[in-house]
Amino acid sequence: MAETKDADAIFKNFKEHSIAEFFKKNRQMLGYAGKVRSLTTIIHEYVTNSLDACEEAGILPDISVEIKEVGEEKYQITVSDNGPGIPKAMAGKALATILAGTKFNRHMQQRGQQGIGAASCTLYALITTNKPIHIKSGTGKDAYECDIGVDVKSNKPIVTNMSTLEKGSIVGVSINGEFGEIKYENSDHGVYEYLKRTALSNPHISIKLKEPTGNEVSFPRHTQVLPKRPKQIKPHPLGLTTNDLVDFAQYSTSNKLSSFLIDTFSRVTYNKIDELKTIAPNINFDSDPKKISWADAEELIRSFKKIKWISPEMDALSIIGEEQLKVAVKNILDPEFSQIIERKPKVFRGGVPFVVEAGIAFGGGAGKQGKEVVGGNILRFANKVPLLFDSTNCAITEAVRNVQWKRYGINNFDEEPISVIVNVSSVYVPYSGVGKQAVSQEEEIIEEIKLAVQDAARGLQKYVSHIRNRNMQESKYKTIMRYINQLSGDLSELTGAKKEKIESSLNAIIKNKYKSVFDDDTKSEEVQEDANTPEGLED
Ligand SMILES: Nc1ncnc2c1ncn2[C@@H]1O[C@H](COP(=O)(O)OP(=O)(O)OP(=O)(O)O)[C@@H](O)[C@H]1O
Ligand SMILES: [Mg+2]
Repeated sequence: MAETKDADAIFKNFKEHSIAEFFKKNRQMLGYAGKVRSLTTIIHEYVTNSLDACEEAGILPDISVEIKEVGEEKYQITVSDNGPGIPKAMAGKALATILAGTKFNRHMQQRGQQGIGAASCTLYALITTNKPIHIKSGTGKDAYECDIGVDVKSNKPIVTNMSTLEKGSIVGVSINGEFGEIKYENSDHGVYEYLKRTALSNPHISIKLKEPTGNEVSFPRHTQVLPKRPKQIKPHPLGLTTNDLVDFAQYSTSNKLSSFLIDTFSRVTYNKIDELKTIAPNINFDSDPKKISWADAEELIRSFKKIKWISPEMDALSIIGEEQLKVAVKNILDPEFSQIIERKPKVFRGGVPFVVEAGIAFGGGAGKQGKEVVGGNILRFANKVPLLFDSTNCAITEAVRNVQWKRYGINNFDEEPISVIVNVSSVYVPYSGVGKQAVSQEEEIIEEIKLAVQDAARGLQKYVSHIRNRNMQESKYKTIMRYINQLSGDLSELTGAKKEKIESSLNAIIKNKYKSVFDDDTKSEEVQEDANTPEGLED
């Protein structure tokens, strides 16, 4: 008979775990799955932090990344920035406590949100090499360096070897660590591609990369203008879930539910409270918001959906910008043709603003550039951060794949030199996982991406048909020219006229008929002029 156990015996094994312990066992949830991906994740976490910090401080970011191979699947990584630095007293918490940071619950568009990224790198270094990371930082007030490890059981930092540096000897943050179970690879998922795409979506930054081979790559800054600082906004009632409402209520300092709603959420006024009172007569709007019941919160969320709201504030969004993206695409991809579209902000789930930017680059350096094959590629971004993984679960892939490319002159997307660039910006990008590598497939977002891409594709269609027509004319011209000599000789014999004279006249006639072949009119700029004109080519 099988062994049996009672509840007491089973519960002898009952244990509590810290969040750090959880992620130590489930590191794939944070992007540490596969050696190439794990390395890209580390670079992604450090670089996004540097960019967020520099932009918040109003500094044009200079980022440098150095990767040295120090053993089998072991690398020494250094990421440095010229940002505001981390105050000495906060260094441990910022880089080693999971779920700690300055960006949590801020309701503004930033790359980081959860306070997990940097601490997850420290944890990964510990798990794979048993070594702490090293930080040097200067904040203007002080400069220091120290080692930072993590006590996994308590999710607390272990700061050692703290020493003060000469003030001004270091600006910003420089983090250095040894990481194992990672691999540097020059692939679509590697660090080089990640940084190239980061440069594409952030033309105001300068990035330098030193690869393990010693090779140095530089992605220079293309504009001196920092993106407009996004505004911190209050959430819109239509973008809330019951759980959000209850969470907000717990932190409220208001005495009454009505003033909590007015103070916390955008577009809620006394008039709207009156309207809500008629729709939800059972709810006491004078009650203490901290004591709101789940049922009342559910009722409120239902009532929000029954009244008309002014749409959410849109100036919380920070985009790449049409002009900036155009310059970056030209400099980095160097295509023969490009078209960039910046759409107007829209909302999903009724109350969450987002904006889509799309671009198409064709020919030249666009598309997948394999050794022998060329093919289409989709460059996905969310809040200007490149998304390199989980492409099949992403709203961007879904939308781009659903465009009927044949209508735009692209017979097989996977065999043409085409890059489709899509950036989705929102205060609350709905990622499909904690790793933030795919935008979840919200219908409104897919539709908006599709419209943006189709808009850009109209310009492409004109360009492609223009090129094809030119190539056809050129081939006809060449065929005819092959017979000119023979024909001139025959005509000369028949008519007695000089062969050279006949040949030169025929040459002139044919050149005139195929003059488009000699015009250098393939420049993308000219075709782009009227590329915005809709042609009724909706899918
Ligand atoms: N290079 C840096 N310069 C200044 N502050 C930094 C830097 N790197 C990290 N920080 C601080 O450390 C905090 C924690 O970083 P971490 O990456 O863990 O979380 P986050 O960026 O807030 O959110 P996410 O988990 O989404 O990345 C940040 O919120 C920021 O305050
Ligand atoms: Mg971060």
